[in-house]
Amino acid sequence: MRRSDGLIHVLALAPLVWIVFDQLTGQRSINPIQTWTQRSGFSALALLLASLACTPANRIAGVRRAAAWRRPLGLYGFGYALIHVLIFVVIDYAADGSAIMAELAEKRYLIVGALAFAILIPLALTSTAAWQRRLGRQWRRMHRMVYLAVPLAVVHQIWQAKSDIRLAVLFALVTGLVLLMRLPPTTGARRR
Ligand code: HEM
Repeated sequence: MRRSDGLIHVLALAPLVWIVFDQLTGQRSINPIQTWTQRSGFSALALLLASLACTPANRIAGVRRAAAWRRPLGLYGFGYALIHVLIFVVIDYAADGSAIMAELAEKRYLIVGALAFAILIPLALTSTAAWQRRLGRQWRRMHRMVYLAVPLAVVHQIWQAKSDIRLAVLFALVTGLVLLMRLPPTTGARRR
């Protein structure tokens, strides 16, 4: 493992350490549940985007090592999304199924968030080399679904933003850029 690989793990774990540190040292915000939800959601999306940016970084910018970061970054992103959803379901709503359903029916941003999360689950579960071998060509096709899950998460973020949408717009722009780099003309250019 190279030093840069280790740095990826340190950077990806930093938001979790930050959340735990704040709790242990009593530096809570007025609404800690909201703060955890926001930080875990932000980290999930940022890491998923970083994972998507690895392929263009490798093929277009020539950062060869980035190919090895794609999977860990994606899995960390999913890990934060799982924490994000668990905070909502278990801590915020005490796993009350009918209250959660009522909230989902009322807020469209929760429906797209849940959709994004539902897409990410099978991708995380089949991210291993063994699953890649087992699924063959299907694996690549299936894992392209991440290009749907991330924009859905961005829509979720934009729709949930109450007043300040600057961060959400920044995420949307970065997502647009990463998706643009996956389009055929760019793909052709980098192959030449
Ligand atoms: C069942 C699925 C999900 C639920 C129930 C959910 C719930 C929530 C809630 C309640 C908020 C608002 C927090 C607040 O009050 O400020 C929020 C914000 C957010 N969520 Fe989710 N979410 C889900 C899925 C996802 C996924 C899959 C991602 C990313 C991959 C994500 C990323 C975000 C982001 C970036 C924010 C904004 C955080 C900020 O304020 O900076 N969410 N989510």
